[in-house]
Amino acid sequence: MFSDTKRAFFKNVRALHTKLTFDDVLGEPAFTTVQVPDVITESMFSKNISVKVPIISAAMDTVTEANLAIAIAKVGGLGIIHRNLSIEEQVEHVRKVKNYSHGLVSTPAYVLETDTVGDVLERKERGDLKFSSFPVLNGEQQLVGLITKTNLGYAEDPSARIGAIMTPLAELVTAEAGTTKEDALSLMQQKHIKLLLLVKPGQQLAGMYTQRDLMRARFGSMYNVDDSNGQLIVGAAVGFGDEGVDRAHALIAAGADVIVADSAHIDAQFEHDTIQRLLELGGADIVAGNVSTAGAAVRLAKLGVHGIKVGQGGGSICTTRVVTGFGTPQVSAIYDCAEALSDGGYDIPVCADGGIRHSGDIVLALMAGGSTVMLGGLLAGTAEAPGDVKMVDGKPTKEYRGMGSIGAMKKRFANDRYRGDEPVAEGVEGQVQYRGTVQNAVKQYIGGLKKGMREANALTINDLWSKAEFCRVTSAGVRESHPHDLIAMTSAPNYEG
Ligand code: XMP
Repeated sequence: MFSDTKRAFFKNVRALHTKLTFDDVLGEPAFTTVQVPDVITESMFSKNISVKVPIISAAMDTVTEANLAIAIAKVGGLGIIHRNLSIEEQVEHVRKVKNYSHGLVSTPAYVLETDTVGDVLERKERGDLKFSSFPVLNGEQQLVGLITKTNLGYAEDPSARIGAIMTPLAELVTAEAGTTKEDALSLMQQKHIKLLLLVKPGQQLAGMYTQRDLMRARFGSMYNVDDSNGQLIVGAAVGFGDEGVDRAHALIAAGADVIVADSAHIDAQFEHDTIQRLLELGGADIVAGNVSTAGAAVRLAKLGVHGIKVGQGGGSICTTRVVTGFGTPQVSAIYDCAEALSDGGYDIPVCADGGIRHSGDIVLALMAGGSTVMLGGLLAGTAEAPGDVKMVDGKPTKEYRGMGSIGAMKKRFANDRYRGDEPVAEGVEGQVQYRGTVQNAVKQYIGGLKKGMREANALTINDLWSKAEFCRVTSAGVRESHPHDLIAMTSAPNYEG
């Protein structure tokens, strides 16, 4: 996986009983034949979950709920829904992501022919019916027609029955259950229709295709979807013990593709016992974290996890290291874990979690052996993250807090009367710069990554592991790396002055 030069670099670092982080290193520019547009950013978050861009959004209550998970999956990444929610609430966020986009909609939302126009408009208003066209069923659950935005728009009387204003089955183009996506799309093109209902014997509804989803699949897009039914990929975090297992069970049933067993220090017997129970559930990959040493990573690998999250105390809102005196500078943590997994013959992707401040840190984290990076602070300021924009000193900001901060813990333990009054925090609460949409923010991060990969002559992330070399920098080097000796500076989209 790693070049002899990189191995020797970290061997020397270890010989000095030292561990390095982002500001301690830089990549060494190499002669390159790689052009930025050719760079391939595809990678793995876990054994069975791939991403088109190696960016995972953190399972934090000021970062990843359904809106951000949808936005990040649409640009090729992956969101992990946080667990500072009841099981039911977290499941609802997963469902919202999974319902956003489909290949075949196997169980479409429907209305009844006896419903009134007013009933349907009210359900749409409440958000119970999220699309604009619905199959219409009779009392025997048989398909009898289709109602669209156009039908509803022309309906003047809210008490009119849907059966009276729908397009009846006899006038619809339908197809048999089992029709492939390709056949469905050519039929829809031929008949100039946007929606195709599938019907099985007994006039039973068997599913629905939409033009929007099929065209997206045909022409390719950055959407990170699963192969089987074209739904966006989403992950969800769980805790430990019976509650964690029950939570994971419900999340997998709701369609979560990957479960992240989430602890500040997962290298512990109680946590390992839960991981074993999570692995027995099946139906989703299990990623476990966090660890930051080779031994801890190998212990997780031996349990059979599908991915490992690395990072202890490096996050922008973390106080773990100052509160407990423990942690590992992040570049060494990533390298030590990735090297031990590779040398042990474990093909388990490492997600480098925390401490990333600029796109250059993403490149360094991947060079050190990360397959993906997890971002908290760099995504908390986006429009799709929970919370409103607040002006601070004339600048737009959004709230960002550690999951171990007092505010986040009070929310988590609000109903737990066995907890003490004042928890010991390992995180802080604050505001981060507003960054616009996830799409714009990620464009900057991936733009920087691609430029860095060109500097390393790396076409793929595997090339970053095997070809890109580190050099050690001093504090004078760090000062030189940032803009300096200016009287005034304007911020760039990827650099805040
Ligand atoms: P960044 O640097 O991207 O870090 O903002 C996000 C990661 O920080 C971790 N995290 C915490 N660590 N106390 C900690 O020590 C906390 O309260 C806390 N909350 C989140 C987590 O791994 C996240 O992905």
